[in-house]
Amino acid sequence: MNFTEELKKYREIINNELDKKLPNFDSLQKSVFDSMRYSVFAGGKRIRPILNLKACELVGGNINDSLPFAVALEMIHTYSLIHDDLPAMDNDDYRRGRLTNHKVFGEAVAILAGDGLLNYAFESILGFMIDNNKNDIRYLNAMNNIAKASGVQGMIGGQIVDILAEDKEINKDELEFIHKLKTSALIEASIISGAIVGGADNEEINKLRTYSKALGLSFQIRDDILDKVGDKEKLGKKVGSDEDNNKATFVSVYGIEKSIEMTKKLCNEAIKSLEGFKNKEVVDFFKEMADFFVHREY
Ligand code: IPE
Ligand code: IPE
Ligand code: MG
Ligand code: MG
Ligand code: MG
Repeated sequence: MNFTEELKKYREIINNELDKKLPNFDSLQKSVFDSMRYSVFAGGKRIRPILNLKACELVGGNINDSLPFAVALEMIHTYSLIHDDLPAMDNDDYRRGRLTNHKVFGEAVAILAGDGLLNYAFESILGFMIDNNKNDIRYLNAMNNIAKASGVQGMIGGQIVDILAEDKEINKDELEFIHKLKTSALIEASIISGAIVGGADNEEINKLRTYSKALGLSFQIRDDILDKVGDKEKLGKKVGSDEDNNKATFVSVYGIEKSIEMTKKLCNEAIKSLEGFKNKEVVDFFKEMADFFVHREY
């Protein structure tokens, strides 16, 4: 298994499906469609949908059953980025190597494009279930995991605490709370929903929970590190946004070295939790993914 090739292959599958799900719509509401497509096709890493499909594969499922969930996750993630960049939130001008959505389409359209993507995510899952007569409870269970992880007990919950903590001293537990909710929750749901759709048993779900919690937290710690020492060209977004907004981050609280150590420790923990899975190719992919989370530069 060549990790880079595998990422490329899955990215293509996801991009094709996103393209089908988000058509160029020529009607009076065209501007909101243009704005949605602008951010979705700006070139994200597609980490969440890839993890979703791979988790489905790991437990012996058919990735076509999880594809509607995978694209839903990317739509939700992209909406969270559009809103995260708004002047009322992080006030950023660049994202995925382009001007941010509101810089091009204006704030009102950007807000509605985000809302549109969130709704489309669930339309994608429900449409698939209805059209294919997939009325098994596990599809609802997978969808419920995604809904919860995106909401006030997940991403939105983390974003509100992150915003309210600007210009304030927060303790380490509060910092971890923010990172777990704003970022880790959706990464966890990406993996767990894929595993549920693939027919995972409880033991497999528990192992993957351990894996995804460790991976999810390390992802945001690495994001904090890159916001300090990353390269704008590689990242496709500004460096130094956190400092400008007076955010408490793992870097501001623990420093770079300790933060790197933490990501390594978390990813070792994640790798350990994969013991017992039989599909060696896919297990190797998940191990390489953990390594990517420690070393990524974009
Ligand atoms: C950025 O996510 C926002 C965070 C939750 C840290 P990604 O680093 O996955 O962004 P894209 O999708 O590749 O643009
Ligand atoms: C945002 O965290 C996480 C989201 C839920 C979008 P950041 O604000 O650090 O993400 P970036 O650095 O702007 O991508
Ligand atoms: Mg933010
Ligand atoms: Mg931000
Ligand atoms: Mg950041």
